[in-house]
Amino acid sequence: MRIGIVGGTGGMGEGFALRWCQKHDIIVGSRDAQKAKEAASNYTNAAKQSYGNISGSISGDDNFALAKNVDVLILSIPYEFIDDTCGKLAGQIRDDCIVVSPIVPMTRTDAGFIYIPLEQGKKPAGEMVADKLQPRSRVVSAFHTISEVKLKNVGQGLDADTFICGDDPNAVAKLTELVNEISGLRPIYLGPLALTYQAEILTPMLLNAAKKNKMKNPGVKLI
Ligand SMILES: NC(=O)c1ccc[n+]([C@@H]2O[C@H](COP(=O)([O-])OP(=O)(O)OC[C@H]3O[C@@H](n4cnc5c(N)ncnc54)[C@H](OP(=O)(O)O)[C@@H]3O)[C@@H](O)[C@H]2O)c1
Repeated sequence: MRIGIVGGTGGMGEGFALRWCQKHDIIVGSRDAQKAKEAASNYTNAAKQSYGNISGSISGDDNFALAKNVDVLILSIPYEFIDDTCGKLAGQIRDDCIVVSPIVPMTRTDAGFIYIPLEQGKKPAGEMVADKLQPRSRVVSAFHTISEVKLKNVGQGLDADTFICGDDPNAVAKLTELVNEISGLRPIYLGPLALTYQAEILTPMLLNAAKKNKMKNPGVKLI
């Protein structure tokens, strides 16, 4: 599979690239193609150190150039930039490309981390992405409660669940397959994209609990 990561130079992008490069061709994206190429080269070295050889590859390109020819597009950018970035991506991606949102709309206040849509009346991230990158059926959301620190540490399984929301069974099945390829990560289908807020809101909750109880990068697991 060809997997493009918009904003792939960030921590989550690095984790996704390292976790999937054993089998897939990863294209790390950035607003700056040169920055993307440098990140891709660093990730390739890290992957080879961890795994020896990799059957896939990691390359880098401009966010918008890479989006034209990938099977899966991960939107690994902050919530604030959805409108601008997806506005530019609209019309550029293949009809059969699925779009994955791990985006958490979250900010910090005196009380602690809060979920922006609840406090400010804005839309959940997955819904904003779907508005911009139609058809809605292509959009799937997941990975909200996975810490980048753990995702990048490929020597260790995650020992966690991730909730998946999406309207189209085929798109959900494709992402479920990719989740299953990440060691120790269990996909849990939550429901249609209309429920993405239930997955997104868990992240500020986790961070507040972690801070108050001195826990390091906690995740979620249903028992
Ligand atoms: N970090 C975590 O542990 C974690 C956990 C779960 C979910 N998430 C979610 O996953 C997403 C990625 O997280 P992250 O920590 O990797 O994010 P990040 O490091 O803050 O940002 C990722 C990339 O976004 C790009 N970016 C910055 N400003 C931009 C702008 N104005 N327009 C377009 N792109 C811009 C940058 O790439 P370039 O400068 O190269 O363009 C940056 O490397 C976020 O939505 C976050 O909420 C994060």
